[in-house]
Amino acid sequence: MSTEQIVLVVGASRGIGLSLVEQLAARPDTTAIGTARGSCAALEAITPKVKVLTLDLLDEESIQKAASTIPELDTLIVNGAIGARDPVTIIPTDKLFEYLNINVLGPHRVIQAFLPALRARKTRRIIGISSVGGSLATHAAPGSLAAQGLAGCYSTSKAAFNMMLVQFHNELQKERFTVIVLHPGFVATDMGNQAHLLKLAEKAGLVGMPVSTSVEGILKVVDGLDHTKSASFFDWKGDIVPW
Ligand SMILES: NC(=O)c1ccc[n+]([C@@H]2O[C@H](COP(=O)([O-])OP(=O)(O)OC[C@H]3O[C@@H](n4cnc5c(N)ncnc54)[C@H](OP(=O)(O)O)[C@@H]3O)[C@@H](O)[C@H]2O)c1
Repeated sequence: MSTEQIVLVVGASRGIGLSLVEQLAARPDTTAIGTARGSCAALEAITPKVKVLTLDLLDEESIQKAASTIPELDTLIVNGAIGARDPVTIIPTDKLFEYLNINVLGPHRVIQAFLPALRARKTRRIIGISSVGGSLATHAAPGSLAAQGLAGCYSTSKAAFNMMLVQFHNELQKERFTVIVLHPGFVATDMGNQAHLLKLAEKAGLVGMPVSTSVEGILKVVDGLDHTKSASFFDWKGDIVPW
């Protein structure tokens, strides 16, 4: 039996997604596929060469078109998202809609579209790159550092994303899917390097970790998954994050 793993990362033009595809492509037993919203020199430059698909989380047609080219898939990693500090008390509702559209409805469109390909293999893993920002328990705790971070619209969307992935778990567990969400840690990407976060981190004595470190951890967690770990919220070290 072939041990080849086919892994697709949604939102792989930069940051954590790009690094995931780079590290997956370096594995001899893995076919790595990355998506970007348009042409993407960084993905195209990866050696050995990876398959690159055009996909925008907001564009159903692009998602269906991408999915139609992938008949079989072991692991779907839903990584792409937006995040800035947009407090719910002051932002217009349309802005919250944008967060939900990209960070929740987009992943919904993507997961549904790739279900046939996932069902065509036995591995059947769906990994949602979430955030401690989506942890209700962490945000409700008095003096929570996370609540001073991106919080607001971003956290609202990530909490909804987490709940949606648990629903996918509930509906797919009979088919032996493994569905988890994963916090990548505080990572030095465009999202992690926003001025507000850097200021907060400096005060707390924290430094964003290199992307490659987070991604090594994420892939170790993914490698160690089995069906019994479905519906878990892990961080990049494999520790449980409270819902
Ligand atoms: N960095 C951190 O410290 C941190 C902490 C906790 C959680 N996370 C989570 O980790 C994941 C990756 O974050 P990152 O730090 O790597 O962020 P990033 O550097 O800002 O990259 C975001 C990625 O999402 C893609 N994206 C945004 N809107 C999209 C859309 N409409 N359709 C398709 N792709 C879209 C971007 O594509 P374009 O290049 O086309 O914009 C880019 O590839 C996110 O889910 C984020 O919430 C990050």
